[in-house]
Order: sequence, then C-alpha cells, then structure tokens
Amino acid sequence: MTTTATPAKARVNPPKVKAQQPMLIGGKWVASVSGKSFSTVDPATGQTICEVAEGDKADIDLAVKAARLAMDGPWGRMNASGRGRLLNKLADAIEANKEELAALETLDNGKPIADSLNADLPLTLQCYRYYAGWADKNHGSTFPVDGSFFSYTRHEPVGVVGQIIPWNFPLLMQAWKWGPALACGNSLVLKPAEQTPLTALKVAELAQEVGFPDGVINVVPGFGPTAGAALASHMNVDKIAFTGETGTGKIVMTAAANSNLKRVSLELGGKSPNVVFADADIDAAIEGAYFGLFFNQGQCCVAGSRLFVEEKVYDEFVEKMTRKTKARRVGDPFHPDTEQGPQVSKEQQDRIRGFIEVGKKEGARLLIGGADVPSSLSAVHANGYFVEPTVFTDVRDEMTIAQEEIFGPVMSILKFKDVNEVIERGNRTFYGLAAAVWTKDLQKAIRVSHALKAGTVWVNCYDVFDAAAPFGGFKMSGIGRELGQYALQLYTEVKTVIMAV
Ligand code: NAI
Ligand code: MG
Repeated sequence: MTTTATPAKARVNPPKVKAQQPMLIGGKWVASVSGKSFSTVDPATGQTICEVAEGDKADIDLAVKAARLAMDGPWGRMNASGRGRLLNKLADAIEANKEELAALETLDNGKPIADSLNADLPLTLQCYRYYAGWADKNHGSTFPVDGSFFSYTRHEPVGVVGQIIPWNFPLLMQAWKWGPALACGNSLVLKPAEQTPLTALKVAELAQEVGFPDGVINVVPGFGPTAGAALASHMNVDKIAFTGETGTGKIVMTAAANSNLKRVSLELGGKSPNVVFADADIDAAIEGAYFGLFFNQGQCCVAGSRLFVEEKVYDEFVEKMTRKTKARRVGDPFHPDTEQGPQVSKEQQDRIRGFIEVGKKEGARLLIGGADVPSSLSAVHANGYFVEPTVFTDVRDEMTIAQEEIFGPVMSILKFKDVNEVIERGNRTFYGLAAAVWTKDLQKAIRVSHALKAGTVWVNCYDVFDAAAPFGGFKMSGIGRELGQYALQLYTEVKTVIMAV
C-alpha cells in the first residue's frame, strides 16, 4: 500500500485590526469621556494588538441614558416578530463574517483557530437563531379568577439591562446575553472583559449595520471595578447579568442590592466532578475527560476538574490519560492543527503556575507537565502565556487543587471505591455547575445523575452544549438559568392585568 503525505495545513493569517477602537453608545462610535484607552494584548506573543476606549462611570451613564431612550422609542414599539427578524439578520451577518470573527477571537483570546471556527462560531450562531425564534412566542396567558373579571398576564421586557461577560468565550457569552435580552425586547449595555473586547465591538458593528435602532445595543469596554461596578450599581439599570468568578458575582449582587435592587442573574465558577466507573467504555471516558478538562486551555467554568476514577481501573486510566496528554499539540493558535494555545493573560498564567506549585507542595504526584512553555515553541511565542498540559494523580479531596477553580490545563485525578462514596465526595464543594458520569449501567447512571447537585449532568459525554439546553448553577455556581426557554424568564417581567367585566 502506498501512502501520500498529506500537505501541511497553512497557517491562518491574523486579522488586521485598527490601532484605536472606539466604543458604541447610542448608535455612535465614540472615545471615552475621560479620553483614556487601554491596550488589549495578543496572549500568544505578549504584544499589544491595539488601544481600546476605556469606559468608566461617565460612559456607563451615557450608555444607560441611550438605552433608556431606545426603550421609550422605536425599539419599545417594534413588533415582536420584527425583533426576531433583526436577530436572524444579525446571525446571518455573523455567519458572513465568520472567518474574520474567528480569527479576531483567536488573536484576542489565544484560543486555537480550529476551536474558534468549529466551536465558538457555530454555537454563537445557533444561539442568536434560537432566540430569534422565541421573539414572538414568549407570551402570557389568561387564567380564571373568582368573580366577574377578565385576567391575563403580559410578558414585558425588564427594561435596560446591564451585562458583564468574561474572557474565556467572548463571542459565545455575548450571544448568551444578547439573544434572550433582545428577543424579549430589552435594550442593553454590555461590558466585555478587559482582556478580550474586540469581537464584542465587531458584533456590535454588525448589529448596527443590520438595523438595530440606535441605543438598543451599547458596548462599553473597560475594567471591572470602574465600568463594571458602575453598571452593577446604576440606579437606572433594571437588571444585571454577570458571568465570571464567584467572588466577583458576590460583589455584583451586593452592588445591585445596595443601589436599586435590580434583578440579578449570575453564572459563576465550578469545580465539577467527572465520575468514571470501572464498567464504563474506558476509551470513551478518556476522550471525554481529556476534552472536558483541557478544552479551551482549561479555561471553562464547567471544566471536569475533579476527575474521580474507580479504583479497579485507576492505573489503566492514568496510564492512558498520561500518554494522550503528552501528545497534545501546544503552540501557535493560528495553526489549524494546534490543540492548545496560550492562557488568556500573564495574570492567569501566573495563577495557574501558583496552583501547580501548591499541588506539589501538598503532596499530589505530578505525572507530566508543570513547566510553563513547551520547548517546541518558536521564538515569536517565547513570551506567550503558555502552560504545559499537566496531570496530577494521588489527589485528595482536601487539597487546594481539588477545591479551587484553577482555570487552566491542570488535571487532578482522584481515586474512589463505590457509588455512595463518590456521590458524597462529588457533592463536597460549594460549587454546583456541572458533573459527568461514565458507566454502561443505566440504573447507576440515573442514580448518580440525580444525586449530584449540579445544574448540568452529562452521561457518557462531556461539554455538550445547545442553545435549547438550560444552563446554570446550583449552590455558589450561580443564580438563574441561561439558554433554553428558561433564559426568557431572566429578561421578562410578568404583569398581571385584572379587569372587571
Ligand atoms: P472576573 O470575574 O473578575 O471577571 C469577569 C468580568 O467581571 C470581567 O468583565 C471583569 O471586568 C468584570 N468585573 C471584575 N470586577 C468587577 C466588579 N467589581 N464589578 C463588576 N464587574 C467586575 O474574573 P477574572 O478576574 O478575569 O478571572 C479570575 C478567575 O475567575 C479565573 O481564574 C477563573 O477561576 C474565574 N473565572 C470564571 C469564569 C467562569 O466562566 N466561571 C470566567 C472568568 C473567570
Ligand atoms: Mg477579577
């Protein structure tokens, strides 16, 4: 048999980016009131990409005014079906620009281009289209009351909503926030993460082009304690939606309580148990656990970062997982074959290294990884924020690496003996975002899925997301459900009307 070598895939070109990026307020692209801007950095090289207008309280005030004006203007009067058409047009515009958006996401965040193109973009498009469909279907109902009355509910928009998103899935988190908010007829002010503001600005430009009225969508880049805090504590913002760290979520909720008691929804951290029983398809479990931890450089709120493996198959599992992880291709995120790019920032790289050191000190066994930069990297990436894929075994529940969200490519494998034990240990955390179970025993799968306290449980799969599948956390992983029909509740006020007849 003869084989022909497959030609090496060509590197994708990074996109050209304007040196100065203004913000969008009331349909106008403007500099910040203070005149300040900040640099956004390419995490693969450590080089500045461009300067972005830096919003703070004054800019948030202007954006909230513009959003209120839009609610009281044409947007507030638009037919629900018209909102659906605009959302579909936005999805079409994103699709028409998907290569550019994927490349921009990779440049600003560092995620491999194959992931941007094959995961972030399709999920983003699906989300906008899903909520386009909901725009004219989120209706109230009539209901019988005692006496001679006609009674019904109306589903009205909440009003002006503030949205604060993180840097790990910038395009997708924007879609999760914008889709339901716009379908339900709210106007919004988005503060993207300071590490990754570029795709949010590009999508806002597309939204203006497809015809969202001025002021419906406002994007104010800036930092958390200034722009973010101003939004969370604003007296004229009706709701705040936040995704990020649990500690920041508490600050946002406190700000909401101390200002106007605006509605709050939170999607926060996790330390998700991924449970592999000895009767599972071990190779499938290896694939799923590997993907569930290392995907997106480990920067996933749902990362399966407590990997429980049954004693009987522990050694086999660890051996196979180590072999697989060693082969992971780390490097240039613009190369189509790259599986792992840099972490998003120097800060995150340092934080992850810190956890690796603590893991070693507390007695976990480092099997592979632990160095920052893989030796295979080219000189241009020598200052990138890379972390080697790392596997710890002999991890115990009380160790720091088994309790805190590492948000990096660091796998902790724990051993267990039986079902009751792993349920109890799986639930021994303040978090409750996700969990997974690997087994061929149906009864066991159902029992464990029901017993684990988590917003999403995957059985014999991991990281399966869909716009129709509600997502959110039990316990300190959050408040409310995004995606699916449930997200409509986050962006709807229910009004009861009772009329004497
Ligand atoms: P963060 O929660 O501080 O940042 C997320 C967003 O909140 C950003 O837009 C930020 O500007 C904003 N923010 C920060 N402080 C704020 C404040 N006082 N008021 C209003 N908004 C504020 O997360 P950070 O610092 O980027 O990352 C630290 C750790 O948080 C990570 O290592 C990871 O463990 C976790 N994290 C979890 C995420 C998740 O999806 N669950 C996403 C991002 C980070
Ligand atoms: Mg922070």
